[in-house]
Amino acid sequence: MPFEIVRNDITKMRADAIVNAANNSLLGGGGVDGAIHRAAGPQLLAECRGLGGCETGNAKITGAYRLPCRFVIHTVGPVWQGGGQNEAALLYSCYRRSMELACENGCESIAFPLISAGAYGYPKAEALAVATSAIRDFLLDHELWVYLVVYDRASFVLSSRLMANIQAFIDDGAIPPDFEETQKMRVLRAEALHGMAPPAAAQQSAAKKKKRLLHPGAALTNAWKTIEEAEPAPGLEAYLTQMDESFRDMLLRKIDEQGITDAACYKRANIDRKLFNKIKNQKDYRPGKPTVLAFAVALRLPLEETREMLMKAGYSLSHSSRFDLIVEYFIRQGVYDIFEINQALFAFDQGLLGTAAQM
Ligand code: APR
Repeated sequence: MPFEIVRNDITKMRADAIVNAANNSLLGGGGVDGAIHRAAGPQLLAECRGLGGCETGNAKITGAYRLPCRFVIHTVGPVWQGGGQNEAALLYSCYRRSMELACENGCESIAFPLISAGAYGYPKAEALAVATSAIRDFLLDHELWVYLVVYDRASFVLSSRLMANIQAFIDDGAIPPDFEETQKMRVLRAEALHGMAPPAAAQQSAAKKKKRLLHPGAALTNAWKTIEEAEPAPGLEAYLTQMDESFRDMLLRKIDEQGITDAACYKRANIDRKLFNKIKNQKDYRPGKPTVLAFAVALRLPLEETREMLMKAGYSLSHSSRFDLIVEYFIRQGVYDIFEINQALFAFDQGLLGTAAQM
């Protein structure tokens, strides 16, 4: 089931359970703790008084009172002391125990803040990495919809090196390295089709050609015109027999070729089982582009096959789209971890790969 990163105030989340970044006393505090107690009202504190506190790394569950959710799960993260006091394991345990409690109480969804990343001083990029790994591990064998709620831009930090690399790719990635090759192929095809040199206009310098054809579609339209002139269109029926393999058939073929289960594929794609079944059972269902890309990532397709899968669903990778460039960046790096890609997409204010729950 999907893992979603959202910008919100956790007290507004309508998940079945929201998680409070509490302290050992469970008697309230500042930050998330203060916000949740204020929004829930005094009955929450009254119930917490009866819990007898909570040790670091563990979690306890209460009602939610005036909050728009069913439960509050109070967990106590580690105070950062430099990383040598088992902080990562304790923080991982906060997420794990909270999700276990949510499932034990019949929750289908849970919303986390970035535990320990505020007053407890846990370095934000590391706190995010521990959260992601705990959530990913748990979702491998549990059905739960998990939201990581980011309250303010400053609290969502990726490694600066990764951010710089992605930004550089976005800035320079406008012309794909295989651009020249693609362009040459088009000119050769036009010549082969019509036994003539392409129109003088096409004899421009490579630099001008790059500028002129920053939108490859333009070249395609021209080439298409010449193809139509050259070949009489076949009858419609004959045409329709040329139907290519559909996106769905390619997806199912790839799953078989890789010898993985449907569930392994849609979990790696951060796709909900219901949506996967819709794609599998409704031949003409047309998924959105983020869904197609999520499957390409889950199947670890190289760039060419990713483009092929997109084309079968009626899409293409655009170099004028930050979203597309960021996903292409990770595919070129051979990084197919959808959680990592989604964190980068979120950091660049883009939508995420996979399905978004309607909250
Ligand atoms: N919704 C979502 N996230 C929030 C909200 C909110 N309303 N308010 C703060 N945050 C974010 C912070 O930006 C930070 O990234 O939650 C993260 C955790 O920050 P803290 O609330 O300071 O929690 P933590 O670092 O775990 O420290 C816990 O602080 O409030 C006290 O009683 C609490 O002693 C405990 C300590």
